[in-house]
Amino acid sequence: MRQVKTTRYYKVDREHPAPDIIEAAARVIREGGTVAFPTETVYGLGANGLDPEAVEKIFQAKGRPRGNPLILHVSSLDQARGLVSTWPPEAETLARLFLPGPLTLILPRASAVPDAVTAGLPGVALRYPAHPVALALIESSGVPIAAPSANLSGHPSPTCAAHVRSDLDGRIDVILDGGPTEVGVESTILSLAGDRPVLLRPGGVTREQIEKALGVEVKLHEAVLNGTPENPENGAGSEATTTAPCPGLFFKHYAPRARVIMVTGDPDRQAAKIRDYLNSHQDLRIGVLATKENAVSYLESTIPPAHLEILGSRRNPPEIASRFFSALRNCDDHEVDIILVETIPAAGIGLAVMNRLCRAAENRSI
Ligand code: TXA
Ligand code: MG
Repeated sequence: MRQVKTTRYYKVDREHPAPDIIEAAARVIREGGTVAFPTETVYGLGANGLDPEAVEKIFQAKGRPRGNPLILHVSSLDQARGLVSTWPPEAETLARLFLPGPLTLILPRASAVPDAVTAGLPGVALRYPAHPVALALIESSGVPIAAPSANLSGHPSPTCAAHVRSDLDGRIDVILDGGPTEVGVESTILSLAGDRPVLLRPGGVTREQIEKALGVEVKLHEAVLNGTPENPENGAGSEATTTAPCPGLFFKHYAPRARVIMVTGDPDRQAAKIRDYLNSHQDLRIGVLATKENAVSYLESTIPPAHLEILGSRRNPPEIASRFFSALRNCDDHEVDIILVETIPAAGIGLAVMNRLCRAAENRSI
């Protein structure tokens, strides 16, 4: 059986994290341990990105398939440039506009980057996060920090330290609690390793912003709005053999315990479908993730949901993004069987929300 660790837990001020706490966590990183820390997107589970043995602990703690590579987090552009074999003009343009921020770039890796990080791929994913705690930790560690989202593999990403605790307490060395994250969905991943830029995962920096900055059309990887893993052998927990450009796209993901179903159509149609579903499935405990505009119609329906989460206004997609993962987790806490989720247009950060939702629902919809 897995040996249970004592996970040290520290609260830190987001803007001015106490130097002694940061130094203690940085020492854990330097000594090959694991530290969960906040970023502006979601919490990450970090280890020394130049030490394959430390990186291995991340895979073990999360139960992550070995074929799924990790992002290296840096605290400066110079540090990023030192981890790649070429830094193309597109990288410079995007870095100037969006970094530090929720954009991860995939570039040809330098030889210093271990195979354990890239899962043997020729590209390395680099991220310069816009969060004072993350930056202080990376800087104080003196090494790039390899970090996936700090959840058990397959679970929704953590947007607060309580989510990290519930998944990883006893499996990692330290949790730094810097409060809830702002963006709430993981960073945009853009590959600059091929002939043309390809968006592998939509996120906080939108496709539209990247296209405007580069003056070219940005191709979407075909799996972005396809929740079904194309290679059924690559389920969570199995070894991956795929050579896909973003292996993580093919693993079961973002899934709470309950069965997630997307609800399509215009907002009124969605409300009608959800009320019908509640009426015709009275034997099940049903959770609903609703927009603010539609929420009241479920509370007033003859059969209200067992649990209702209000994601935010349709006019404010960033608000919806910031609450999405915690809303899924809250439904599990309320022990629902089914989670019905309203859909929003797949544009701007709405593309990131719909991408996570398709994956969580494994493309099921009504
Ligand atoms: O916002 C974020 O990006 C968060 C925070 C903690 O920084 N991190 C995060 O990491 O979401 P993770 O591991 O949960 O998702 C990273 C995705 C995975 O799907 C992985 O397959 C892909 O990035 N990836 C990592 N390195 C890659 C590489 N070298 N080539 C292609 N895809 C890569
Ligand atoms: Mg993840």
